[in-house]
Amino acid sequence: MSLLSSTLLLFGAWIIWRVWRFTLSPLIRPNDPKELPYTIPFIGHAISLFSNSTVVLTKGWRNLSGGDRQPFALQAAGTSLHVISHPKHMAEVFKNTQNFSFQGFVLDILKATGISPGAIAKTYDLDPAIVDSKVDHFNYPKKDKHFEHLNRQLHLTQLSPSSQNDNLASLDQSILSWLQDHLTIQNLQQYSLAQDSLEVNLYSFINNVFIQAGEHAYFGPALSKLHPNVAKNFQIYDELYWKDLYQLPPFLAPALTSIKEKLITQFKDYFSLPREERTAQNPSWFTPNLELTLDALGVEPRDKAVFFLMLYFAANSNTPKLLFWLLAHLLSSPPSYLSQIRSETSPAFTNQNLTDTTYILKPGNCPTLERFYLEVLRFRSNSISARRVTTDTVLPAPGSFVLRKGAKVMIPWRVFHFDETVFGEDAKVFNPERWEHLPASARGSVRPFGGGKSICPGRYLAEREVKKAVALLVRRFDFEVLAEGDGWMPVGDDSRPGVGMMAVEKGGDSRVRIRGRE
Ligand code: HEM
Repeated sequence: MSLLSSTLLLFGAWIIWRVWRFTLSPLIRPNDPKELPYTIPFIGHAISLFSNSTVVLTKGWRNLSGGDRQPFALQAAGTSLHVISHPKHMAEVFKNTQNFSFQGFVLDILKATGISPGAIAKTYDLDPAIVDSKVDHFNYPKKDKHFEHLNRQLHLTQLSPSSQNDNLASLDQSILSWLQDHLTIQNLQQYSLAQDSLEVNLYSFINNVFIQAGEHAYFGPALSKLHPNVAKNFQIYDELYWKDLYQLPPFLAPALTSIKEKLITQFKDYFSLPREERTAQNPSWFTPNLELTLDALGVEPRDKAVFFLMLYFAANSNTPKLLFWLLAHLLSSPPSYLSQIRSETSPAFTNQNLTDTTYILKPGNCPTLERFYLEVLRFRSNSISARRVTTDTVLPAPGSFVLRKGAKVMIPWRVFHFDETVFGEDAKVFNPERWEHLPASARGSVRPFGGGKSICPGRYLAEREVKKAVALLVRRFDFEVLAEGDGWMPVGDDSRPGVGMMAVEKGGDSRVRIRGRE
């Protein structure tokens, strides 16, 4: 066959596929969400989703979703993604946990991170009755000890303020003590890029310090004593993690695979230390109890290390970024805001130490801090909630859309953060003052922590840590932005929704000089 006839044949096959996929198929299945057309079969939108998913999502909304927020579909490397944004559809996705499985999404991530099939069989796939018979060392109130529920319950026992224990308070207090000791000009000099003054790149500095604080809270001093560079390695991993989230095959992510292996080995080493050495001065209730659970279920050391890498990620990926954006917006706003936050938080201090910690958490005591906190969550988070469809399911009205088994459901919360009907015409602008006038219900439209039963259990710890850190930093230090002109503001990377706060764009960090205040 000549080259010309093979080309014509291929082209003909492609035309038939296009007509089938985007003209005939929608006629046969009129209730399936409309699909954003693509050119290459199977690959679909994978390349554009991996390089800048926000562009594809925006195109979908503009072309298919319309003003009435209909679901629409994207194809990526053989997987169908259904993007949902109508509140009634979202409510169904959260309510119907049988047909829209959160566990399916978690398992995808765990597998991408490198968990073995054996470990899944011993945990998520294990019959609850067997879990029940093996794990009896802590007081789980419900009968169904499916591993998914057990794991979440462990997190809630550590992180929930309504728990019948003081686990959250003691974790929180230990982070504060670590920060009070660590945040001195002499000590911070180790991060300085200059010899005779303290100059740092703000994003990298905040990540560096606060990842160590989070590490200390969950693993005690033993991890950094054994491997002092875990926090640094984690920062490299955190930058590349989206490749596992978007499930790129390992050959397209060699740098991620390599740093991940390094971290898994470091966590394995940590767990082979004698238990007493690890638990000494470790304020976390969660870490020893998850370890006991995994041991009782017979999970192998490497898989255990993967579980704890996931914990390290959950505890340390977002909170430092939230703190960074709060400081960055504060430093690029008129200086009166910084003065207001200093004076609002001042009654909580004795000299340079934060002593009345409950004071600053009350919005009425520190309204400017509260407004900045809410506005940064609205403006700088880019979270998705994800589910896997386990059986063909019809969504409730409006419409009667069918979501097919095997598809993934995505809820990109950032759409709601820019809803002009809630936040006003200036929704696209950073403006903490808006929270002075917005009704209390507007807070429900800001969803950086996801929603439904998978809502982030760490949201209370994150809020406490960030507010205390801001109060402490502005009490102890002055910050001078080392940039030309008035328009200083690091550039956020909003190209890819993930599980929380956005990072800065590559090369988008900014230098700041820090001086002690008397
Ligand atoms: C600014 C800080 C944080 C943000 C923006 C954030 C955001 C999120 C989001 C978006 C999810 C997924 C929710 C969903 O799918 O609906 C999540 C889950 C989770 N987060 Fe956070 N998070 C933060 C801090 C923390 C902290 C400090 C911890 C402490 C360990 C934590 C622990 C977790 C855990 C364990 C899950 C999984 C929940 C489950 O499996 O049911 N997060 N977080």
